[in-house]
Amino acid sequence: MSSNPMQSGAFLHHVAFESAQPERLATFYSKNMDMDVIRISDTEFRAEGPMRRLVAVKGTDKKLAYAGLACRTQDVVDAMRARALSHGIDILDSPSPYFDDKAFALRDNDGHLICFGMAKAQTVSYRAARPGLHAPTQHLTFATQDLPGFKDFYVDKLGFFLADRVLHPDGDPATIFTTTNHEHHTIAAFKSDRTGVDHHSYEAGTFENIKLFCDRFAANGNLVSWGPGRHGPGNNLFVFYDDPDGNWIEISGELETIYDREVMDWPQEPRSLNKWGKAILRS
Ligand SMILES: [Fe+2]
Repeated sequence: MSSNPMQSGAFLHHVAFESAQPERLATFYSKNMDMDVIRISDTEFRAEGPMRRLVAVKGTDKKLAYAGLACRTQDVVDAMRARALSHGIDILDSPSPYFDDKAFALRDNDGHLICFGMAKAQTVSYRAARPGLHAPTQHLTFATQDLPGFKDFYVDKLGFFLADRVLHPDGDPATIFTTTNHEHHTIAAFKSDRTGVDHHSYEAGTFENIKLFCDRFAANGNLVSWGPGRHGPGNNLFVFYDDPDGNWIEISGELETIYDREVMDWPQEPRSLNKWGKAILRS
């Protein structure tokens, strides 16, 4: 039985945000990200598309309700639970509608609810992505006032693989990237003066595909808020958009595949965040 999330190939299956206007939020993703809106109730709407899923539940704008990391085998789910228990982390019920009844949830060091489980079969009414619009939900990044606490929870306790760090000149970490599979990062965190979500990302693979999403956003009157650019850590191409609640969406391409390299340290400077141009430094 593996307790190594790298071996499990766990991946970001879905994100759920609170919103004062959940229908408006889900509709935005539907129009711009080629997803279908599903009304669950007056207070819950889902946007589902090929390999991407976002839940919008009535609540406070920009607050993460939960995120779901799908594991590929039940052994890994069980091992993750045992590993969390061995570190004294409370095991909670999973609220995820996409995971089976053996799933569980943990609250991380900042109180974010992260679900681990096996995805139910056929949770999405699959339809082939339109040409170029293939972009799975790929990573989630937090803003945190406690970056050492983030590293302790995800890397030291849960066993996520530390991919890269961005360091201030005095060695104090500014950003930590962790992964649960072959992709450069699954969950990352920026040092910040606030606590919450920084952004979540969809991996479109290529610049050609990113361009098609940009055309779609533009046709709906939504303009790029940052980019296009290329990150240093992860080497990925990126554009950023704001959704109507102010959540930051990244559409990424060419994200680095890692498997056996050492952790890399990057300096906290604009060129680390954007090799091509202006950066948005969080600390
Ligand atoms: Fe990102």
